[in-house]
Amino acid sequence: MRVLFIGDIVGRPGRAGLAAAMPELRQRHSPDLVIANGENSAGGLGITEKTANSLLETGIDVITTGNHVYRHRAVYEFLDRSDRVVRPANYPVGNPGRGATTVEAAGRRVAVLNLSGAVQLRVARSPFAEADAQLAKLESEADAVIVDFHAEVTSEKVAMGWHLDGRVAACLGTHTHVPTADARVLPQGTAFISDVGMTGSRASVLGVRWEQALEGFRTQMPQRFETAEDDLWVNAVVVEVNDRGLADSIVPVLMPVEDA
Ligand SMILES: [Fe+2]
Ligand SMILES: [Fe+2]
Repeated sequence: MRVLFIGDIVGRPGRAGLAAAMPELRQRHSPDLVIANGENSAGGLGITEKTANSLLETGIDVITTGNHVYRHRAVYEFLDRSDRVVRPANYPVGNPGRGATTVEAAGRRVAVLNLSGAVQLRVARSPFAEADAQLAKLESEADAVIVDFHAEVTSEKVAMGWHLDGRVAACLGTHTHVPTADARVLPQGTAFISDVGMTGSRASVLGVRWEQALEGFRTQMPQRFETAEDDLWVNAVVVEVNDRGLADSIVPVLMPVEDA
């Protein structure tokens, strides 16, 4: 079974770029399951029912999120209702949405688990203990588990890879919007990458117009941040999952979008 996992989709340009790239991504990689991080899909910050649905219509099966998930109040009820969108499982109990969901792909049950790092991000519980608790539940529900670890620092992400090695098919980092060059299958069979990257404008600082972001650093004055639109690319990984629910390979995809 092949899983295509797409890094944080930033704003309308990211959604448009992905829609334009999807036919080629499907042709090249023939994914059985497509997962994407959508926490920046609405105007660069947050997610709405509309942007979630537009991603699902593009052919994404499950949307993961992260620290921007609650930016738009109107989405809370949708998060409770949808079994195709998840938010970090280690947020406060009772918050809108769910931390994991199980879907069918290639005749197998695949759980998608979303976790947030605790370093420089707000969480209610340690992602390591939360992973243990969630996996105890998901073991009986799913044949394979894919984890989106939405976290800031590489050390915590690499540590999570070791924590989950041999227990999940893939532990894939998101949030920094910068792809890392460390994709590999760990010794016990878990596909790992510190960060998948982002899908949106490469002529930007993490999806924001680079002139505005640079001005903020240069002057240390408040800036208006707008989503950049030019030079789109898709950052993703393709994970080959075997019958044991572990990974045979992980291949990064850094694909410029020809005509969005
Ligand atoms: Fe993000
Ligand atoms: Fe984030």
